[in-house]
Amino acid sequence: MEQLLFINACVRGERSRTLKLARRFLENWQRNHSDGVITQVDLCKDRPVPQYPEVLAQRDELWNAGKLDDPMFDLARQFAAADRIVVAAPFWDLSFPAILKIYLERISVTNITFGYDEQGNNVGLCKADKLLLITTRGGNFSLPETTWMEMGARQLEALCAMYGIPSFQCLAAEGLDDIRNDKKAILAEAMGRADAMAEVF
Ligand SMILES: Cc1cc2nc3c(=O)[nH]c(=O)nc-3n(C[C@H](O)[C@H](O)[C@H](O)COP(=O)(O)O)c2cc1C
Repeated sequence: MEQLLFINACVRGERSRTLKLARRFLENWQRNHSDGVITQVDLCKDRPVPQYPEVLAQRDELWNAGKLDDPMFDLARQFAAADRIVVAAPFWDLSFPAILKIYLERISVTNITFGYDEQGNNVGLCKADKLLLITTRGGNFSLPETTWMEMGARQLEALCAMYGIPSFQCLAAEGLDDIRNDKKAILAEAMGRADAMAEVF
């Protein structure tokens, strides 16, 4: 029974194009994995608290006392235990909404999602072998002259290396706010890619 963790950072909620694309993917994934279990973390509802000084102090205290089973680390343990991870987040300010960054800070806990070996090398501790980012972008950031500006997928891909998740994938619908483009056609094409990716994810 595969456990798929769905991290929902779609701030526009039901009006979100990213969420529509993610739902299409998840429905197809469920169809292809009838005994798979999807667990959602809805960041707009759950609202993990940013690591303000007192939060970080509490976290340090618990970590130094070896209390990694404290509820403070629930999100990190949940992330580390998932078989598959899907993150849905719109493209904001060249990366993703701050609520996702807050989540990533909360799950990046030494000895839960990553650690170090005796030589001091980074060792990923997450069970998942695949993480998929589903996103929609106003502009097109897959062009030779724009890819360098894209920092959402790139950050998640780098974090996957740190967490020990070997396969990072990205499903992006781009150019959705460009008046020259046919938005419906772009989304329809991305939905088709979502279907194909869900079959093998
Ligand atoms: C706060 C905010 C920041 C955005 N920043 C960018 C950006 O840097 N580059 C871009 O191409 N589009 C940007 N967009 C446009 C969104 O990426 C685009 O409309 C996307 O489809 C929104 O996804 P959603 O429908 O899931 O909310 C931004 C939109 C918002 C609301």
